[in-house]
Amino acid sequence: MTEIMQELEEIVGDRASASPGERCCYTGDASQIVGMPDFVVRPQSTSQVSRILRLCSKKLISVTARGAGTGLAGGCSPVKGGLVLDMSGMNRILEIDIENQQVIVEPGVVAEKLNSALKPYGFFFPPDPGSLAMCTIGGMISYNSSGMRCVKYGTVRNYVLNLEVVLADGRVIHTGKKVLKSSAGYDLTRLFVGSEGTLGIITQAGLKIAPLPNTRKLILACFDEAEIAGQAVIEIFSNGITPSACEILDRTTLQVLKLCDPLLAIPEEGDIILFEVDGTESSTSEAAGQISEICQITAKSVRIASGREMDSIWVARRLVGAAISRLDPTKTRIYMGEDVGVPIKEIPALIKKVQQITTKLDIPAMKYGHIGDGNLHVALFIDVMIEEQWQKLRLAADRIHRAAMELGGTVSSEHGIGLVRAQYLPEQVGTETFSVMQSIKNALDPHGILNPGKMGL
Ligand code: LAC
Ligand code: ZN
Repeated sequence: MTEIMQELEEIVGDRASASPGERCCYTGDASQIVGMPDFVVRPQSTSQVSRILRLCSKKLISVTARGAGTGLAGGCSPVKGGLVLDMSGMNRILEIDIENQQVIVEPGVVAEKLNSALKPYGFFFPPDPGSLAMCTIGGMISYNSSGMRCVKYGTVRNYVLNLEVVLADGRVIHTGKKVLKSSAGYDLTRLFVGSEGTLGIITQAGLKIAPLPNTRKLILACFDEAEIAGQAVIEIFSNGITPSACEILDRTTLQVLKLCDPLLAIPEEGDIILFEVDGTESSTSEAAGQISEICQITAKSVRIASGREMDSIWVARRLVGAAISRLDPTKTRIYMGEDVGVPIKEIPALIKKVQQITTKLDIPAMKYGHIGDGNLHVALFIDVMIEEQWQKLRLAADRIHRAAMELGGTVSSEHGIGLVRAQYLPEQVGTETFSVMQSIKNALDPHGILNPGKMGL
C-alpha cells in the first residue's frame, strides 16, 4: 500500500490520497451502489493518467474513473476497491473553433459551463440531461447521455468526433480527426461512447456544436390519461413534426411540483405533455399551431406557455427527479427500473404496463421523462427502513425492465447499465452479441482492471 502510494505521489504529488476521509467521499454516485476505494487520485494531464494506468496495470489495481458522480447506475462506484480516478480536475476548454463547428475539451468540463462559453458565439452543445448544471462531459460521453433535446438533436454519440483515450496499459490513442465525417477504419469513437470507463479513460474530446436557435415555443397539452397522452405523441411524429423537446409529466409529477414550490407549479391537473419547438419565429409558430391542432382532438386542454412561464417550466422539469420525496418525507426515491425505453409506437403499451405493475405491487410511482424518445423515467419511492418495501421495489423494477424488453425496447435509454442493470445486458442484446462485447473488453483490458464488474463484463 505505502509503496503504491509513494509511486502515485511521484506522479501527481499531493493529488493522491489514501486517507479514509477522502476515500469515503468517492464511494459512489446517486444510485445505491457503493464501494470503498483504496486510493483517490486527481490527475491533471493525459501523461499523468497514462503513468497511473501503467502502474495499475503492472500491480493489477482496479481503476474506476469518475466525473461529477451524478450517475444513476453505479457506474463510478468502486465496487472492487482499487483506485478512483477523479477526472473533474481536467476541466479546461482547450479550443472553441467556430469555423469548424467544434470544440476540444477535457473530460472534467461541466456541460453547462461549456454552453456558457459557447453562448457568446451563438452556439451550443445540444445534449441536455437533467443534471446539466453539474455533470461533466466525460461522464456524458461514458454514458452516451442525452436528456431533453435529443428528440431533435440526437444523443452525445452524435456529437463526439474524436477522443483521446488512455488504454489500460497506459497507451494513448486518438479515435478520430478534426473533421465532421470520416470513413477511415473501425469507428472507435462510437465504441468508447457509452463504454462506462470499461475500455479506457477519456482524457480529451473533440465535439461537434450546433447554432443556437432564434426562437423557442412551448406547448402544454393536458390529458385525462397518460396512455392517451402517449398516443398523441405518436400522432405528432406520424405527421412529420419534430419537436425540440417532448416530455411527459404525469399527474403525480404535477402534484410533486405543487408541494415543492408554488412558483414552479403547473396549474393543469392531469397528465401533461410538454412539446417544445425551436427555429425561427415563423417555423415555430407553424409547428406550434400543428401540434396544438393535433392534441386538441384528444386533450382536455392545450395552450402555449408565455416566455417567462416556459423558463420556469424547464426549471421545474429539471427538479422533479429529486423532488419526489415531497409527496411523503418518510420515503426515498431509489433509482431502479427508472430509465427504460421502447419504440415510440409502444409508448402507450409501456405506460399501461408500468401502471399495472406499480398498482399491483402497491408501490407509489411517478412517471416523467423523454417520451418523444420513447424514454420513460419511473420514479419508485419507498421507506428504506422497511425490508418488505425493498422487496416490492426490486420486483417492480425487474418487471419494468422486462416489460421494456418484451416491447422491443431497452433497459436503459440514457442512464446506462453500470451495476444496477448489469444482469439484463446479456438478455437484452443476446448471448452472442454479449460475447462480442466481452471479447472487445478482453482485447483492450486483458487484466480486467478498468471499472471491473460494470456492465456484467
Ligand atoms: C432526467 C434524468 C433523471 O431526465 O435523466 O431528469
Ligand atoms: Zn432523463
